[in-house]
Amino acid sequence: MGRNVVIVGGGGREHALALAAQRHGHTVVCAPGNAGIGRDVVIVDVRLDDHEGLVALATARDADLVIVGPEAPLVAGLTDAMQAAGLRVFGPSGAAARLEGSKAFAKEIMTAAGVPTAAYETVVDVAHGMAVVTSLGLPVAIKADGLAAGKGVVVAHTADEARGALRASLDDRAFGDAGASVVVEEGMTGPEVSLLAISDGTRLVRLPPARDYKPIGEGNTGPNTGGMGSISPPADVSDELADTIVDMVHRPVIAEMSRRGIPFAGVLYAGLMLTPTGPKVVEFNCRFGDPETQCILPRVDEDLIEVLIAAADGSLEERPLHLSAEPCVAVVLAAGGYPRAARSGDIIDGLDAASATGAQVLHAGTDADDDGHLVTAGGRVLAVAARGPDVATARKRAYAGADLIHFDGRQMRRDIGA
Ligand code: AMP
Ligand code: GLY
Repeated sequence: MGRNVVIVGGGGREHALALAAQRHGHTVVCAPGNAGIGRDVVIVDVRLDDHEGLVALATARDADLVIVGPEAPLVAGLTDAMQAAGLRVFGPSGAAARLEGSKAFAKEIMTAAGVPTAAYETVVDVAHGMAVVTSLGLPVAIKADGLAAGKGVVVAHTADEARGALRASLDDRAFGDAGASVVVEEGMTGPEVSLLAISDGTRLVRLPPARDYKPIGEGNTGPNTGGMGSISPPADVSDELADTIVDMVHRPVIAEMSRRGIPFAGVLYAGLMLTPTGPKVVEFNCRFGDPETQCILPRVDEDLIEVLIAAADGSLEERPLHLSAEPCVAVVLAAGGYPRAARSGDIIDGLDAASATGAQVLHAGTDADDDGHLVTAGGRVLAVAARGPDVATARKRAYAGADLIHFDGRQMRRDIGA
């Protein structure tokens, strides 16, 4: 049955969700979207913080389902506002979104639920912070408690670095109120994995595991970005391991949230490290990952919208999703200068040729100039995703598509999935 779906957000993740919905015959409106998303579905220019405007849009469109992509509107209570207006929405309440909105809260929930994570303490002054650094031993991770647009984490290898990070957040308020308290946590080592599970507040359905490539440079060098590419599944994460992690992490957290009267209905994203002593949680997100979604959704061989509707209705059926055995690789094309000062306004060529290869071209930061050309408008500009019978073929297809797309200053890692 074709549904009216309203997707809130405007990046590669939302484009991937829009295409997945459209593939199954649903009608999609995306707000605010971006110029590239607007080539595939209707976009409406409503800001993410204009909750009234978003509720009005979903109501006017007679939405069967609203999907909220980014964390900020979730933490700010957009789901609550939508539900108050009688709309069906996929995404946790503001209270439940605190799992991402407060790292201290997430730690407290994990402790109560017995979920493995790094030892930590929450501090509000530098002297206390340094005492915790001394007792945990270096390296440590210093994390602003609240939302800091992905910039609030420093892994410190020396006492000076740790002090600098504590001062920046606590004394200089580099992240505003979001950094007024700080989680100091034991340093962990090991490969990272992103494991997402959809919940209706009680039951769970997991998505296939993925890995995000965060550093800008090949071989994981240079500063961290929002993600330069992704793969699903990572070679070192079997289905058995993913199932084990869901039992160790997602189930106890969902149960603990429910016990506290703040059920988490939405997608629970666990970022984990596979440490020498087993998987441990690095962070929770209360939404789909970006750019993980771009390589996860092409592997879902069923209508995910109906699953999200069941989750929103509290009637999710626990069962394995129909997944393609084929791996998927998504390669990000970033703007010149990113992740520092990203260039914008560079004309993008080759999009149609790239799509014609069969690869999926997902727009993260694109705009239309006065002549109607698509131009760059953000750090991460595009992702090109492709499946294949094996990783080598999926990579070859993704890069074949990506190599056809040009803009001045383009940055692309060659080693995604390698
Ligand atoms: P994010 O929270 O997504 O900004 O990512 C922060 C990154 O910092 C993670 O992806 C890890 O690579 C790293 N990180 C966070 N916590 C720790 C930790 N306790 N030990 C080592 N690295 C960490
Ligand atoms: N890929 C990391 C995130 O979505 O937060």
